Formats: sequence, structure tokens, C-alpha cells
Amino acid sequence: MPKFLIANWKMNPQALEEANKILGEILKIKNYKTQLIICPPFLWIYDLIKKYGNKITFGAQNASFENLGAFTGEISPLMLKNIGVKYVILGHSERREKLLESDEIINKKLETVLNNDLIPILCVGENYGIRKKGIEFAKKFVTKQLKKDLVGLSKFKNKKIIIAYEPIWAISTSNIGIADNPKNANEMSAFIKNVIQKLGFKNINILYGGSVNSKNVLKFLKEKEIDGVLVGGASIKIEEFSKMIQILNKGLKN
Ligand code: PGA
Repeated sequence: MPKFLIANWKMNPQALEEANKILGEILKIKNYKTQLIICPPFLWIYDLIKKYGNKITFGAQNASFENLGAFTGEISPLMLKNIGVKYVILGHSERREKLLESDEIINKKLETVLNNDLIPILCVGENYGIRKKGIEFAKKFVTKQLKKDLVGLSKFKNKKIIIAYEPIWAISTSNIGIADNPKNANEMSAFIKNVIQKLGFKNINILYGGSVNSKNVLKFLKEKEIDGVLVGGASIKIEEFSKMIQILNKGLKN
């Protein structure tokens, strides 16, 4: 199965024309060796799906834990599904840290998203304080996150679930902002796969995220246990993202 290349555009770009420009450029590239998924801001998703939905798969960056009702400002996963969204990022560290999203909330969101047959991309990862103590501490922390986020969801064990290992310190906008070593990321991926399998889930993929760019993307995707990458900052720079795709088209096997 081709590896995932998932773009998390975060709160960018500021105008729909710019979003169209990025997608127009990357669609000029042929013979993709990766499964490309674009996660734009909510406001652009509907227009982008209408225009590119037959060529590109789209994901959302978040969703509510309810499908309908009195939830001012929330976005219904059912509405997302109805307009053609296929994937939903949940539990991103920016939402956990800046919007105080708890594991309990993420767990409820996972349940609703899975009930709607959307594919969750659940983000987990440790901060620098934890990682400084060693990779075994990071493994313990991530295991706790996974167990809390996935508690009570074993009824979905045959559904596809994607886990993105994103060490917080490696995210390009964080204080350190340097990518993890691909070997460490591979070790963490294998570890996470094992934890999730023990929890009973069968249909899983593990991604790495954190300062992925055209210089390191192939190294990550050549690692056996890493099934894809989640790319933030580099995915909204047209030239950089196009370069990444071309490097992968050349460097990865079919
Ligand atoms: P980054 O972001 O690629 O800019 O480090 C990744 C993410 O936050 O998902």
C-alpha cells in the first residue's frame, strides 16, 4: 500500500485563491507514489472538494463529538462526511495544549468520527521535558495517551485508524522545532503499532509528524514501520511541497 502524505494546513492560507493555487500546482505532478490527503481549514473544504474532489482526498483538522444539536461554533462530523470529507485529524498537540482539549474529549470525538465511518488521524506525542529523560519515558507517555484516547472503542477494532506520532518539540513552530531522527521515529512507530494491536485494533497505520520537509521526507518514508508523514509548515509552501512530492515519486517504489 502506498505511504501517506498528509498535509495539515492548520489556519492557512488566508484566502481561497491561495488554496486553489497550491492544489493547482501539485496537481500538475503526475504518477504519485503516495496517498495524498489535504486537510485545509474548514472554510475552504467545501469549495475545494467541489473543485478537486475527484482527484484529491480531503480531511478535516478537527470535528465535534456530536453530529447535531446546540453546540455553538462546532463542526459536525456528519456534515463533514456529507460533503465528502474522508479523514479527520483529532488530538493534535496544538488543540491539546492551546485549546485544553482533554483525552476524554478526544475519546468522545473518536467515537463519533468512527461511528460516521470517517477515518481518524489521532495525534499523540510527548513534550521535550519527557523526551529529555529518554525514549523509554516517551513510550510510557504515549502509551498512556493512546489508552485514554481509545478506551471503550474496541467495537471499532476492524475500522481503519491512523495514529500520527508527533513529538511536540519536533513541530516546526515549537521552541526546538527540529525533526526527530528517522530511526527513533521508526522505533516509536513500531512501538505504537504494538500497543494499538494489543488494544485489539487490526486496521492501523502509523505516521510520523514534526518538521518534515523536502530534505528529510524520504528518510522517514524509507523506514519500514513508518506508514506516512503528517506535514504542517512545509505543506503550504507551494515549491517546497511540490519538491517533496517529486522526491518521493523518484525515491519510493510503487
Ligand atoms: P510541522 O507541523 O510539519 O510544521 O512541524 C506538523 C504538525 O503540526 O502536524
